[in-house]
Amino acid sequence: MSENGFAWTVLFVLRLVTRYRLPVFDRLMRRLERAKSLPGTTSVSGSRAVWESYEWDKLGEEWTESADWKASLIDDVLVPNLPRDGVILEIGPGAGRWTEVLQALAREVVIVDFSSTCIEACRQRFAGYPNITYHVNDGATLTAVADSSVDGVWSFDVFVHLDAATTESYISEIRRVLRPGAKALIHSGKGGGTFGGWRSRMTSAQMREIVDRQDLEWVAEIDSWGPRGEHGLQYVDAIYVFEKRPPSAD
Ligand SMILES: C[S@@+](CC[C@H](N)C(=O)[O-])C[C@H]1O[C@@H](n2cnc3c(N)ncnc32)[C@H](O)[C@@H]1O
Repeated sequence: MSENGFAWTVLFVLRLVTRYRLPVFDRLMRRLERAKSLPGTTSVSGSRAVWESYEWDKLGEEWTESADWKASLIDDVLVPNLPRDGVILEIGPGAGRWTEVLQALAREVVIVDFSSTCIEACRQRFAGYPNITYHVNDGATLTAVADSSVDGVWSFDVFVHLDAATTESYISEIRRVLRPGAKALIHSGKGGGTFGGWRSRMTSAQMREIVDRQDLEWVAEIDSWGPRGEHGLQYVDAIYVFEKRPPSAD
């Protein structure tokens, strides 16, 4: 947060202690971010410092709303949209809350995280699993992953913290590494960061513009699921699904 200066930090604290109820603090923060090109809550170096020192004793399950919610997210969103026996890339696995599920579904899981603490936690947790490969990255690119080499991408609770420029960098990389016709499922914000949860300023309109600009095919924006649509996401988020276009016939 120190990169943002004193005035922004005071507003940040006021916004927190008033539990996001007074929009004036948020408006002033945005104005400062724009005027001074501040990174806001989402700088790569600031968030890496947070995740390098995070205690992963609960394995990320502290963000699981209920066993039913998690089972339904797997059965109704993850499994129907990702192929069996393929190569799945996961960005930001944390301590492997979803990696455990992906490795059972996929032939190979490639995990990429900018925190060496997370990658080390996953290495230890999945030591007996031969179908996972591990990479620490720079927080914005996928240089360890070859072009057109993955059959699906999953990222949950990661892009919610990324600004538009970092999101676009990753989405352009996702386009490069996906095989034609393969899908990415990316959980990100849609409310512009005004509903709490350390969300970035991303909106669904911005996500759609990025996906279009990167020449990917928009598939869906999922914000509820389950037999009666009873499950959803906190803090006004969505799971965005998009696909790399197959080569055209002509
Ligand atoms: C809230 S945790 C979520 C972990 C896991 N996906 C889950 O749902 O339990 C955020 C994860 O994203 C990683 N992360 C955050 N920003 C990242 C970035 N710019 N590039 C790569 N990893 C990032 C963090 O290191 C951490 O592993």
